[in-house]
Amino acid sequence: MNMKHVFQPGAEDAPTLLLLHGTGGNEHDLLPLAQVIDPSAAVLSVRGNVLERGMPRFFRRLAMGVFDEEDLVFRTHELHRFVNDAAEHYGFDRSSVVAVGYSNGANIAASMLFHIPGALRAAVLHHPMVPRRGIELPDLSGVPVFIGAGRNDPICAPAESEELQGLLEGAGADVSVHWENNGHRLTHTEVRAAAAWYRMNVGEN
Ligand code: MLT
Repeated sequence: MNMKHVFQPGAEDAPTLLLLHGTGGNEHDLLPLAQVIDPSAAVLSVRGNVLERGMPRFFRRLAMGVFDEEDLVFRTHELHRFVNDAAEHYGFDRSSVVAVGYSNGANIAASMLFHIPGALRAAVLHHPMVPRRGIELPDLSGVPVFIGAGRNDPICAPAESEELQGLLEGAGADVSVHWENNGHRLTHTEVRAAAAWYRMNVGEN
């Protein structure tokens, strides 16, 4: 159990929400989102193990928007192993984990989808980027993915959001994109859209 985290048990048979914060955040930031998306779900909220000038992240970057791919792959597997260990330790169903990530946290959630078959039952990605290019994705048939994107997001241009949608759909994922006009910010309307999507695509206990 080598990652700082918060675990909150959920109702019987409810999914587990894997909460993944943005750069400079921590394991407490996204807890209110779980209440909106699925109050009956268990919650595993994790702090990224990498520090960039004191700011927690889930993997290193070389510059703004330029990822250290070797570290990205290493950290993706590290997070996956942590979720496996946490499922055993806390007794939740590993096959029913739904990632909810914002920005850097959405990027590592997307990286789990890109690199590890069966890692996630579904994913809510708020303002994600394309985590990696030029690799073959695992079969993502039956995996619903919500992308919250910004028409004026200075960190992730609309074309990159559409590229991510295309890559995930190409692997069989069922992707819904919700567009906002609030830059890279995560707004209440976007969280409410994610919650409505979740009720349709994952269900609520
Ligand atoms: C990243 O590095 O993951 C993206 O640039 C988003 C962020 O600022 O965290």
